[in-house]
Amino acid sequence: MLSTSAKPYIEASVPVLREHGLAITTVFYKNMLTAHPELNNLFNLGNQANGSQQQSLASAVFAYAANIENASALAPVIERIVHKHASIGIKPSHYPIVGRYLLGAIKEILGDAATPDLIAAWDEAYWLLAGELIAAEARLYQATGVDADSWMQMQVVNKVQQGIDIISFTLKAIDQETLPAFKPGQYVSIATYLEDVQLRQLRQYSLSDAPNKNGYRISVKCEKGDAFKPEGKVSNWLHTHVEIGDVLDVGHPYGNFTPTILASHPIVLISAGVGVTPMISMLNSLVEDNPNRPVLFVHAARSRQHLSHTQDIAVASEAMPYLHHVLYLNECDDKDDNVTIGMMDLAKVMSTTVISKQFLDKKNVSEFYICGPQRFMDEQWKMLLGLGVNPSKIHREVFGPESLSHLI
Ligand SMILES: Cc1cc2nc3c(=O)[nH]c(=O)nc-3n(C[C@H](O)[C@H](O)[C@H](O)COP(=O)(O)OP(=O)(O)OC[C@H]3O[C@@H](n4cnc5c(N)ncnc54)[C@H](O)[C@@H]3O)c2cc1C
Ligand code: HEM
Repeated sequence: MLSTSAKPYIEASVPVLREHGLAITTVFYKNMLTAHPELNNLFNLGNQANGSQQQSLASAVFAYAANIENASALAPVIERIVHKHASIGIKPSHYPIVGRYLLGAIKEILGDAATPDLIAAWDEAYWLLAGELIAAEARLYQATGVDADSWMQMQVVNKVQQGIDIISFTLKAIDQETLPAFKPGQYVSIATYLEDVQLRQLRQYSLSDAPNKNGYRISVKCEKGDAFKPEGKVSNWLHTHVEIGDVLDVGHPYGNFTPTILASHPIVLISAGVGVTPMISMLNSLVEDNPNRPVLFVHAARSRQHLSHTQDIAVASEAMPYLHHVLYLNECDDKDDNVTIGMMDLAKVMSTTVISKQFLDKKNVSEFYICGPQRFMDEQWKMLLGLGVNPSKIHREVFGPESLSHLI
């Protein structure tokens, strides 16, 4: 618990940090990565360049302090960070470095306002949270039985184009007989050494098939560049350089976006674009282990040419008598009964009598999973709240660092 002497300093400085948050986090990353260039091998260059990372790590410390008496708001955030850190291989020895540069950045930006008492209060808040994370990460490493920063050598045994911008890679272990089990919805990190920047880079990819002891499948969208942003480094490297027979360094599966497959309550899987990947793992697991479960699968894509995993969905539609598949396309010239043209509208989907009866009338027990671009998820989240769904029933996966702006 935060000490009574530190509490007023934290409370008084939260609005100041809200105002200067971005400046503090920018200085923090710059100073830390200059003094410790080896950490560039852990941090994501793309998320630094597009600004999403600056919003995240230090914001979590501020969000923690701002919500120190509101453990229920923080618990899912902490769980997500712990899984992300484990997938990257964060160790206890990293924490003093981050702490030193974060407090240094607060001092630098706040200037004279950063009195010794205020810095002491933030030091205490940082180490409270760091202690929680270190302990939870140690428990997670122990539960999975793997050390931080350990990698499996996996060979690409299949490479399949899924729609126009997604490729699935099937991976088999070459240095061990069976693979670690995973829960549908979890992801792995892929580590690659990028010659142009001479750095190791890590990216996370959701496992896109049901758990299977022999292999993993990931499905990667190539992030194209345009006049305003460069093309994504690792996704394009995977698309253009990695072929069948190549070997990749793959991390242990982690992630807390994981529904219970063997349950009877209805489940609603809502996705857009490449956000479909964890949903396909869930769907294929339901086909194998619980095909009679009521499932509403709602997906949005730009066009039929952009759809991926159509074969998995066709198999599930055959095997699952209570699966409802609803598709939203921005453009389509061969429309059928499944397809609506335009933006996803969950209120409209839920207004269909049979769907309303099976999913919305049971909103106190139904579970809702959302994955897609941030704006899409925010819209569906609001829509579900508007339909009376309890936030504790809604789960989301962000394909990048969470901004946590709602907690600060
Ligand atoms: C839990 C999780 C699961 C995921 N699952 C999947 C999945 O199943 N499939 C999948 O395809 N992806 C998934 N992702 C996303 C994936 O990890 C990568 O983020 C994605 O592939 C892009 O990586 P990249 O190296 O190609 O792009 P990066 O090089 O990291 O660039 C990312 C974005 O930043 C932009 N950017 C880079 N530099 C600048 C700059 N200077 N200015 C402005 N913008 C810039 C790029 O244009 C690009 O849009 C997942 C992410 C997470 C966290
Ligand atoms: C109290 C201390 C820390 C807090 C509160 C914290 C918080 C966070 C948060 C919120 C994220 C984003 C999670 C997500 O939504 O995906 C994150 C990711 C990350 N953290 Fe930490 N972190 C802390 C310590 C550390 C340390 C000690 C390191 C090691 C140097 C570290 C390295 C990373 C890396 C590399 C990422 C992934 C960044 C990305 O993919 O863009 N963190 N952390």
